[in-house]
Amino acid sequence: MTRWTPADIPAQTGRTVIVTGGSSGLGAEVVRALCAAGAQVILTCRDERRGRAVAQSVDRREPEVHRLDLADLKSVRAFAETLERPVDVLVNNAGVMAVPYSVTADGFEQHIGTNHLGPFALTGLLLDRVRDRIVTVSSGLHRLGRIHLDDLHYEHRRYQRWLAYAQSKLANLLFAYELQRRLPADGPLSVAAHPGVAATEGQRRDTSLQGKILAGGRAQPPSMGALPLLHAATAPGGEGGICIGPDGLFQRNGYPQRVTTSGRSRDTETASGLWDRSERATGVRYTFGS
Ligand SMILES: NC(=O)c1ccc[n+]([C@@H]2O[C@H](COP(=O)([O-])OP(=O)(O)OC[C@H]3O[C@@H](n4cnc5c(N)ncnc54)[C@H](OP(=O)(O)O)[C@@H]3O)[C@@H](O)[C@H]2O)c1
Repeated sequence: MTRWTPADIPAQTGRTVIVTGGSSGLGAEVVRALCAAGAQVILTCRDERRGRAVAQSVDRREPEVHRLDLADLKSVRAFAETLERPVDVLVNNAGVMAVPYSVTADGFEQHIGTNHLGPFALTGLLLDRVRDRIVTVSSGLHRLGRIHLDDLHYEHRRYQRWLAYAQSKLANLLFAYELQRRLPADGPLSVAAHPGVAATEGQRRDTSLQGKILAGGRAQPPSMGALPLLHAATAPGGEGGICIGPDGLFQRNGYPQRVTTSGRSRDTETASGLWDRSERATGVRYTFGS
């Protein structure tokens, strides 16, 4: 079987790619590989110092570093307004993983706010400038997730951080698939990806037994975890509405391939309900060209 590696990334010269959360972990790996392939990368991060440190570690073409806090809709709007040129690919990678309860600047529960509503708003604001595809990063843990349309923010349930994370990662898939259904045939593609289990800061942060069981096990290096994201972002003639993940046992590690996701992730009624609530919560209304 042929294994897809960074050597298979087609030349990216002339292409512009936004990678959110490029300051560490998988995002930093994606930035390095795309720069090495010749792309003009726009690395977004909360902490520009950390973003610049990654920028200085690339081989070929240094990325631009921009500040973007997905937990603050003002920051999302400010970034979208400053970016006037077309981009080929938007990689919605940034995310928080199983953090204690807190809310975003806009009062959203932290996981659904940072991992779904922020990227939802960003994608909607940039949509008319994206030429090729939007990649949204989910997780195998989406399988634990349930979307509580009437309690997305844990106002009426006991807070459980892994379930809050899983809800947001299920939201990523519902969004990626619904976006593909809504995009016009001549528009960009919407593709989901997940890395399996990769040893990043985010993955290591929860040192509880529950955290180790859910996120841990034998984690692959970040460079391997980044492969499905890179495949989703660059494979030529790609198909939309699919998910790329690792080919190993339980999709925890391995080389990129098209993978199945839960039945819940394909539920069109939930997807449409989540879309309506996301537009209302963020104030970003999607407009689709013909
Ligand atoms: N590692 C895994 O095993 C694994 C498994 C499944 C899915 N994932 C997904 O992969 C993606 C990347 O995670 P990772 O493992 O690389 O974790 P990571 O090392 O913690 O990186 C997360 C990135 O997201 C950024 N970020 C966090 N909150 C943000 C905010 N409010 N606004 C903008 N950027 C923000 C972080 O920026 P700072 O540097 O400022 O913190 C960092 O650059 C996430 O979507 C995660 O859910 C990871």
